Amino acid sequence: MCGIVGYIGGREAAPILIDGLCRLEYRGYDSAGVAVIDSAGTMLVRKKKGKVQNLQAVLSDAVHGTIGIGHTRWATHGEPSDVNAHPHASGNGDIVVIHNGIIENYGSIKLELERKGHTFRSATDTEVLAHLIEEVQAGGGYDLETAVRLALKQVVGTYGLAVLSQSDPNLLIAARKGSPLILGIGDGEYYLASDASAIVSYTRNAVYLEDGEIATIRREGYTVKAIDTFLTLPKAVEELSFDIEQIEKGGFDHFMLKEIHEQPDAIFNSMRGRIDPNTGKVQLGGLAAVLPQLQNAKRIIIAACGTSWHAALVGEYLIEDLAKVPVEVEYASEFRYRNPIIRPDDVVIVISQSGETADTLAAVREAKSKGALVLGICNVVGSTIARETDCGVYTHAGPEIGVASTKAFTAQVTVLSLIAILLGRLRMLPYSESKILAAELLAVPEKIRQILKLNDEIKIIAEIFKDSTNFLYLGRGYNFPVALEGALKLKEISYIHAEGYPAAEMKHGPIALIDEHMPVVVIATRDNAYGKIVSNIEEVRARKGRVIAIATEGDTEIDGLAEFTIKIPPVMDFLTPMLTSIPLQLLAYHIAVLRDCNVDQPRNLAKSVTVE
Ligand code: M6R
Repeated sequence: MCGIVGYIGGREAAPILIDGLCRLEYRGYDSAGVAVIDSAGTMLVRKKKGKVQNLQAVLSDAVHGTIGIGHTRWATHGEPSDVNAHPHASGNGDIVVIHNGIIENYGSIKLELERKGHTFRSATDTEVLAHLIEEVQAGGGYDLETAVRLALKQVVGTYGLAVLSQSDPNLLIAARKGSPLILGIGDGEYYLASDASAIVSYTRNAVYLEDGEIATIRREGYTVKAIDTFLTLPKAVEELSFDIEQIEKGGFDHFMLKEIHEQPDAIFNSMRGRIDPNTGKVQLGGLAAVLPQLQNAKRIIIAACGTSWHAALVGEYLIEDLAKVPVEVEYASEFRYRNPIIRPDDVVIVISQSGETADTLAAVREAKSKGALVLGICNVVGSTIARETDCGVYTHAGPEIGVASTKAFTAQVTVLSLIAILLGRLRMLPYSESKILAAELLAVPEKIRQILKLNDEIKIIAEIFKDSTNFLYLGRGYNFPVALEGALKLKEISYIHAEGYPAAEMKHGPIALIDEHMPVVVIATRDNAYGKIVSNIEEVRARKGRVIAIATEGDTEIDGLAEFTIKIPPVMDFLTPMLTSIPLQLLAYHIAVLRDCNVDQPRNLAKSVTVE
């Protein structure tokens, strides 16, 4: 999704902007651009379709200046092109704007501006904003800050934006509504970014802008005001919580592969200090204040999108199994629009790696407006969802850069397991049992280390199936959501069509697809569904489907049934998703690499989907 970088200080802005844009590449984008004001006060704008390298190629030596803004665009209005790339200039060229989000009423504003004589170069909503600011400024003789603020009051939609003006070449303006912005504080210099990864190599001190806030930034200092009232707001400077090393590849070919291998540590960090190995007692500081409400909850609703939604499905099994509380799982994007029934003793949990997913944020607001207690499970510390939820639990998986979510998923399932044990203990789960569950949970990182050693074996299977055009993934019980997740991983990074199904559903339709060309990945671990899943494998074999089974070490029966087996260490049923998902991530990864796909930045996808 779109990315914003800004700089004002004493150094050359362009290299800092380019470095920041490169750090934001993982979010997904289709074009990039910068605007720099030079020492003579001239606005220099360069923008290019495609990768940041294309932009670098047109950034001639002439682009010098110590104030600038940069943007990576993910098209919403108008195709990816040089002209639609940001920054966008006002009609007179004095003002330039970069913008994340969507101006919903841009059509009517554009018509009105055209009536007043404005002509537009691009198909974007952002250009309309640049013209609107110019129009407001000219109409009232306002300074830039006031003009931006008054223009934003006419706007319906979402924005994280940055504005420069040739007429005031020492001023950078930023404003936020529904799209994150962070102001990095340096020594006599300031940075702006939509994502901390763009600026963390320059400063660890940051101010998070909230919705409805506008910041004016000069070399001498900054102020943050409310867009509505224009009153100055006190803002705390917070410490960014990750290091630059965490967002580099560390010797791996891709971030995705690095993040797959980070899972033992990520899961360990998700549990660190939260579970007592001697007693099995779970303590989640973020939920301490709401334990009575959790204990009395009659129903839990979990809302999320994509991979986080798959984690939510695992959470449904976990919480119903261990804590015996009814759970419903919702796509966050549907939740808001179907006027959900929320009762006073319902608890809503939202799950989001980025903490910025627009659909999930909308679900948070919907649930809160209906009076629900809303808990967040987020990875990015200080993200919007983390801050708007009533309370929550961070996954502490570390920055996830690969667009395809891997370690975030297993860390989310870890946190959901902790919540399920905690809730179970608050209700009826016997002490002796929770102690066993805790010990098993604590053993998961080591078991994942064992599975990661199968990397080369999985790569061989990937080579055999890399040219397949379809895949089917089957699982039952706890592993049904893993089948969905395995299929999602494959399709998003390799562009092979893949479907995930509860194994028993196969005979109600998908079985028609099976022939000798169809690889079927079956999660067939030794759990209480094993006997049934073996029957499903027989059904596939009878139709000449090619079975790749994820099975349990020591299971020899499966060797005679499946064409390929990948064996994972034995584990209690409730923990199988954390283990079975790993070979599926590796399978998708290797197939995508062998097909020469851009694994970390798959086409059309964004890391953080901040538009509805
Ligand atoms: O940041 P979130 O967890 O809210 O993101 C939700 C989905 O957009 C995300 O999981 C997406 O499906 C990933 N590309 C999956 O790999």
